[in-house]
Formats: sequence, structure tokens, C-alpha cells
Amino acid sequence: MPERAEAIKGGVQAAWRHDSGHKHVSGAAAYIDDLPEAQGLLHVYLGLSTVAHARIKKLDLDAVRAAEGVEDVLTAADIPGANDISPTHRHDEPVLAVGIVEFVGQPIFAVAATTRDAARRAALLARVDYDPLPAVIGMAEARQDGTLVTDPMTLARGDAEVALKAAPRRLKGRMQVGGQEHFYLESQIAMAIPGEDDEVRVLSSTQHPTEIQTMVAGALDVPANAVTTEVRRMGGAFGGKETQGNLFAVIAALVAKKTGRAAKIRPDRDDDFAVTGKRHDFEIDYEVGFDDDGRILAVDMTYAARCGWSSDLSGPVTDRTLFHADNCYYFPDVRLTSEPLKTNTCSHTAFRGFGGPQGMIGGERVIEEVAFALGKDPLAVRRLNLYGPGGRDMTPYHQRVEDNIAPEIIEKLEADSGYQARRAEIRAFNETSRVIKRGLALTPVKFGISFTLTAYNQAGALVHIYRDGSIHLNHGGTEMGQGLYTKVAQVVAEAFQVDIDRVRITATSTGKVPNTSATAASSGSDINGMAALAACDSIKTRLVDFAAENWEVPKEQVEFLPGCVRVGNQEIAFADFVNAAYLARVSLSSTGFYKTPKIHWDRAAGRGRPFYYFSYGAAASEVAVDTLTGEYRVERVDILHDVGQSLNPALDLGQIEGGFVQGMGWLTTEELWWDDAGRLRTHAPSTYKIPACSDRPRVFNVALLEDSPNREETIYRSKAVGEPPLMLAISVLHALSDAVASVADHRLCPRLDAPATPERVLMTIERLRAEAAALEGGAA
Ligand code: MTE
Ligand code: MOS
Repeated sequence: MPERAEAIKGGVQAAWRHDSGHKHVSGAAAYIDDLPEAQGLLHVYLGLSTVAHARIKKLDLDAVRAAEGVEDVLTAADIPGANDISPTHRHDEPVLAVGIVEFVGQPIFAVAATTRDAARRAALLARVDYDPLPAVIGMAEARQDGTLVTDPMTLARGDAEVALKAAPRRLKGRMQVGGQEHFYLESQIAMAIPGEDDEVRVLSSTQHPTEIQTMVAGALDVPANAVTTEVRRMGGAFGGKETQGNLFAVIAALVAKKTGRAAKIRPDRDDDFAVTGKRHDFEIDYEVGFDDDGRILAVDMTYAARCGWSSDLSGPVTDRTLFHADNCYYFPDVRLTSEPLKTNTCSHTAFRGFGGPQGMIGGERVIEEVAFALGKDPLAVRRLNLYGPGGRDMTPYHQRVEDNIAPEIIEKLEADSGYQARRAEIRAFNETSRVIKRGLALTPVKFGISFTLTAYNQAGALVHIYRDGSIHLNHGGTEMGQGLYTKVAQVVAEAFQVDIDRVRITATSTGKVPNTSATAASSGSDINGMAALAACDSIKTRLVDFAAENWEVPKEQVEFLPGCVRVGNQEIAFADFVNAAYLARVSLSSTGFYKTPKIHWDRAAGRGRPFYYFSYGAAASEVAVDTLTGEYRVERVDILHDVGQSLNPALDLGQIEGGFVQGMGWLTTEELWWDDAGRLRTHAPSTYKIPACSDRPRVFNVALLEDSPNREETIYRSKAVGEPPLMLAISVLHALSDAVASVADHRLCPRLDAPATPERVLMTIERLRAEAAALEGGAA
């Protein structure tokens, strides 16, 4: 009998390395721009609007056409099918502008040339006569104007108005929360290769290959089966490639089919910034009623978002904002309303958390206000208002919180991080430190898992076993660095009990697995892992039937063991076993399918169970602020995060660390700034500051919550991890707020808005000092 290994390598729960990690660092991982170019490939560039809102009086492209190296120029008139890439089919997003432009950066035409440099230079030679129209840019203007890009939503339970009036205490305020640029390292890109007849192959850096296929088919006016979309990996996406790749893929395909030559388009970083959507910025109006202990009785909040010129995903994004306004807290009477406002700026889109972070940050501000009003530690107010038993488990959308572990997580992190002792020590330090003030805050996270569009909660997979025992794996999910491909390969390795290096991870393709959902809402491993497992199980069922018949043993005596299959009392090496099955004419290939159970959502009624379960976590962050300059450092961060029973603790830790730092960037240094003419003036790393290595927390303790399998039957009882950790960074904003509050003896709520750039921190310090002085003056 062959020597049998104790356990397979890279099964589920193993801290296995990312399948491409070594290739990412060595440069061997191929991105679309690294792929060999077909002979005669054309490079495409876009001609962009230079004004925020105008009628196009005249479009003169003669100089563009005449420029050196230019082979073709396309306008909307060259689109044989629909000039429409609106992901929600609201038909409000043309590929190329017709007659009117609605933001600086809107594509008007595309130029195809023999080199990328020639295409870029030629694109600048267009002469466009604009007839300016009034443009709405800023939040104040947008709220005044009041035009919505999509239907707003209201979530309500009880009667917030009556409960507010009846509450012993009540206060209201307003918060500004900035947006965020995705800053994926690989910018948007697509390459199209024309095929026979109406066929085209599109390589796209996209989270949503099926949508690319749909959009390309629509624009070319061909059936979906003529278009194949492929993506092996993205160099980061973060939600920015859920819909924003549509434009580039469609343009590449249009050029390819019109010219019969392969076509590639990759915008410069500055143009990527200008053209593509970002995280929505918000203005949040809140009113809260509470009692003298700090128990919240009623909440009324309006979340106004600048959505940009078209609807894109603003409907589902602003819905998810409202779903997360409660965070971990029970609001007895509540009304939450969204205001998805139209502006003449790029069209904002998905970004890690999908509106949830902005919702949560409003809820946390409310907690902070209550704490300051009563002179309490915000953590005490948080704890008092957590979801819990006794009828305190109902969300504003009428889903019960059945898996609440926030109280345990907070308690454990409070102890592990030494919160109480450090808080006392920091208070003492601040008493004597004149310039440097320190701050500490512990905030929790509860994030709902599932797409709120119920139909999206489905996935497919395709698994083949070859005669040599090697396995080919494909599924509808996409790899953007998060490690999905590795996790699903672990599931397959586990199912067949083979080492993970026997499982070939292959590029996602609409030709292999059809009708897929975007890899988004953190649900990639939940749904694709299950679909792959279903495919493995159907092959295994056939193999077991075969073995039982072939070796005349009961089915119970067929067992997949590490590297081999036990049949009766013999152990057969996996490759020999599958080859025997092949010779007996057993199919070694299967598809698999999964749909998430239990979920339903009635948007009009604002009721249902939009989420299969919740992911939880908490972070305690400590900062030190220089009160003369507003500059600060994140000194220490302790995180305790819930991933259920981790599929891969190494990848999960990476997601938590990366998500936290990205969230920290959003709330601290990353600031998007449009001028009055609607030009984004922070459109490159020179002016837009994502966290650098030196910005990471000086001490960074990250732990996974142990012994806490998902209570729902997810893939090996794991939980989604992609987005929730971003919101742990809200603790940094609150730690800054705590430090800032010390300049006024913690008597005034700092109302520190985001991003808390050093400039804003300094302004808040000065405002607080002035307000404190005025209070004293008044008292005297
Ligand atoms: N991690 C990396 N390295 N790169 C990314 O682009 N995107 C995030 C998150 N983590 C992202 C990432 C977003 S927005 C989502 S929705 C999830 O990964 C998607 O992948 P998953 O569903 O497999 O978690
Ligand atoms: Mo993530 S924002 O759901 O792509």
C-alpha cells in the first residue's frame, strides 16, 4: 500500500499563502497590460469633456483624425447597438456623450492609434464648442437643487417623531463625511480581440465579467453568446471595478469590431481619477432622543449623498448606508432616509463597504453626541445601547439580529487592549502635556452579509478532473488580491483530499460559468466556495457509485483520504483511482450551483431579511495629536475580528489589516476636492494621499475571534471578511476626536468631520478652544 500523508496541504482552515503572492512581489503575475499584444493591436484613448455641464455646439475632430498614427476615431454615432452602460438599466449613462456633457471627464469620443502615446496626444487635439449650462457641484448646491439620480429609501420602525418629542433629552447635529478614490494599483484596462462573425473576446479588469459581457453585447448589438469576458486577476479593485470597467471594455470592443484589429485601452492615472466614480461623500443630519443614562430612545437621520451625474449603483449604495446606520445599536423608534443627489461630477460607485461605512459613521456620531452630552465615556454609551435580548434585537429594517456577538467582542477587546487603564493613563498624560494630546476609542462593527438585490446571491462553478488526477477549477468569482481563488481552491482540495497544488486555478470566463454576479458584497467565498463544493460533491457521488460497483463494496466503504481513496480495505492513489473511473466511462467533470437561503427583501415596505448573517469586529485605536499643527500619529491599534471559522487565517488577517488601513486613509488623509468649475483637483498621488507604510499604526495587534463558527451553514462555517474590517477604522476618527476633545476638558463634542486631515483637526481644536472660552465667559 502507498505511504499515505497524514493530512493534505492547503485544505480549509490552513493558513495557506495566496496563490499569486510570490508572483505579485516578483512581478511574474500577469495583468492585462502585461499580456502579449496581437499583431496590429490598436491603442485607444478617450477624448474627455473639459466642462461640468454644457450643450455641445460643435465637435470638430479633424485634427484628431489627421494626427500621426491615428487609425480611427469613434463617436456615439459609431455605436451599432445601445449607447448605454447604465448597470441598473435606468438608461442614464451613455458610453460616449451625445449633445450634452454632464461632468468634467465625461468621454465624448475615442481615438485609436498605432501607439498609446499617439492616441493620447491625438485625443487632446479635438475642438469642442460648449454652450455652458448651470452645473451643480457642491453638497449645499445639490441639496438646494434637490434633483435625485435614483429613488430614495426610508427605513422606519415605531414613530420617531413622537418618541423624539417624548424623550427627556434630545439633540441634533450635522456631519460631513468625505468620499474616497479607490486607488487600485492597476488602473482600469480592457483589451478586445475580434473573432469570427460577430464574436469578440474581451479581457477586462473587472469584478463583474457577466456585466461586461452584457454591456459589450448591448453596444455591439450582438447576442451575449458572441461575447466572452475573461479576467485572471485585478491589481486591486475595491468596488471600483464593479461597474466602472464597463466603459473601457465597451470602447475596446467597439474599436475591435469596427477595425477588425485587437484594441487595448488603459487611461492614465489622472484620467482614471477624473472619469471613474468613487466612494460617495455624505452630509448626515441627525436628531436623537435619549434618557439621562444615555439610553437612546429615538433616532431620525437623513443621509444625503453626492452621487454624481448618473445613477450607477447609487441606489443600492445609499440603501446599504441606511442598513448600517444602526451599527450594533438598538434604536427603539427610528426613521432613516436617504437623499441620493445628482451632481455634475463623476458618478460615484461601489467602494469597500458599499455605503455601509458612511451609514455606520453617522450612527457612531450619534453615540458620541450622547456621551458628550452626559459626560460619559463613549464606550459606556455604546455598551448601553447594544442590540440584546428582551425585544432589543430588531433592526430598522425589521430583521432580527439573531447572531449578535458584539457584546462579547467588545468585552474581550476592552480587556485585551487594556482599554480602561490606558484611558485613565491618557487622561493623566493630557493633564500635563501642553502640546501633544493623546486619544483612545473603541468602536464595534456589525456588517450585513448578502447582496440586498436578492437575485445576486447565486453562484456557479465548473470542476474537471483529468486522468492524471490534476484538477481544473473555475467559478464565477474574480480575484482582486483578496485571495478568493486560493480559498475556493482550498475548498476543492479539501473535498477530494488532495494537496492544493493539484488544483489549477483558472481565469474567470463567462464562457465557462455563465450569468455570474459581481464579486462584491464580500460574498465571494461564501457563494463561490459553496458552488465549487457542489460541483465536487456531484463528481464525488459518481466516483463513490463507481467504486462501490467496480470493487463490489458498500458505498460506506469508499472514503476520500489524504492523497488517496480507500475502497474496502485497499487504498488507491487519487490519480490511479480517477483514471480507473475514466476507463469505466465515468464523467469527471461537473458544474455546481449555489443560492443563499433564507433571504428576502421588500424595499417598498422596508421590511425583510436582506442579510443571511452579520460579521462583527471591534477596534481600539490610540492616537497622539500635535495641537499646534493638527498633525497626528496612530500609536496603537488592537483589533478583534470575527470571521467565523476561518477558511484561511493568513488571508483573513491580510484582509483585516488592509481593510483597516484603507479605512484609516478614508477617514484621515484622503481628501477629494473639486473646484467650483467641477474639476477634481486632487487627481494624482501628489495631491491625494493614501496611507504610506510610515502611516501604519506603530503597534498593530490583530486577532481573529476564536471558537466562533458561523451560526448559519456557510462554507465550512466561515464568514465574509472583505469589507467589514474597513469600518474598524472608525475607531481612529473617534480616537482623534477624543484627543481633540481634551482641549476643552471633554465638555464639548468635537463634531470632528471626515476626513480628519491635520488641517481639519487643527480647525476643530481652534473652534473647541473658542467655544470653551465663550462658555467660560458666559459663566463668569
Ligand atoms: N482586497 C484586495 N486585496 N483587493 C481588493 O480589491 N476588494 C474588497 C475586498 N478586499 C479588495 C479586497 C471588496 S470591495 C470586496 S466586496 C471584497 O474584497 C470582494 O471579495 P470577496 O467577496 O471575495 O471578499
Ligand atoms: Mo465591494 S464595494 O462590494 O466591491
